[in-house]
Amino acid sequence: DWTPASIVTEQVERIRAQVGDARVICGLSGGVDSSVAAALVQKAVGDQLTCVFVDHGLLRQGEAEQVEEDFVQATGVDLVTVDAAEQFLTALAGVSDPETKRKIIGREFIRCFEQAARDIVGGAQADGHPVRFLVQGTLYPDVVESGGGSGTANIKSHHNVGGLPDDLQFTLVEPLRDLFKDEVRQVGLELGVPEGIVWRQPFPGPGLGIRIIGEVTADRLATLRAADAIVRAELTEAGLDREIWQCPVVLLADIRSVGVQGDGRTYGHPIVLRPVSSEDAMTADWTRVPFDVLAGISTRITNEVPEVNRVVLDVTSKPPGTIEWE
Ligand code: XMP
Repeated sequence: DWTPASIVTEQVERIRAQVGDARVICGLSGGVDSSVAAALVQKAVGDQLTCVFVDHGLLRQGEAEQVEEDFVQATGVDLVTVDAAEQFLTALAGVSDPETKRKIIGREFIRCFEQAARDIVGGAQADGHPVRFLVQGTLYPDVVESGGGSGTANIKSHHNVGGLPDDLQFTLVEPLRDLFKDEVRQVGLELGVPEGIVWRQPFPGPGLGIRIIGEVTADRLATLRAADAIVRAELTEAGLDREIWQCPVVLLADIRSVGVQGDGRTYGHPIVLRPVSSEDAMTADWTRVPFDVLAGISTRITNEVPEVNRVVLDVTSKPPGTIEWE
């Protein structure tokens, strides 16, 4: 019978047995899963752990600063930030296919962790290897949807499972691999992870890269980031953060629509709002966000983001639609 406390005890023992006295790095995104994974490993092996935050340029507004403020201040964990925006944009140039994007992003994450591992230890551990262990906040649904569960089809390659490169040199430490999100949140509370992180809505590792339908460019990212910030602010203001599991905001970058804004005709892009309610992200329903909240979001986006002249609402459950568009 599991309780959050029994999971913590069991995983702490397992982590200690797996890594011994070796150095460990953890990919930290600031989200629930990687934060709870990091907190578990910190409890298990303390200062053998260094967290690595990769700023891949696909983040939402204010996200990089938030990791510093929330998680590091609360836990005192050792954090290295890697500025990899150029690296990811270059790797993604010309790519529109969703699975290709996911695999590129998964690979570049690992390249960043490899570089960080070399930098941290300045070469090698006593046994001749750079840091060998990589902690990831992989959950059970990530494994299942990447085709890793028994008899399951590949729906999409989560960046930290099906998106890993074939030449991966790290041994993975994945203490949350058997858990669902609600269980991870309970474990996080048990470990004293700040509530602001524990209740944060999910955000995928590949970030805005899989929310631009079409090629990912710096301009398109700026457009989506501006629209997304408005959506998040308005939903929070309306008190809907707990009711909504997450609300992807998607830029249909390869589609244009005619509008009339300001002085005349515009030929811009639609933005899709995808608010969903869910227990575990395996299934979901579209959230019935009040019309006046939607109206406020639409007005603000079309007034404040010049490239967007149309806001549409996704009213598809999962299945048949997945939560993310790619
Ligand atoms: P889908 O789109 O498969 O999403 O219905 C289910 C949940 O998983 C998140 N998601 C990801 N999270 N890496 C992540 O860390 C990924 O590659 C990834 N793909 C989807 C998605 O935001 C939703 O919460």
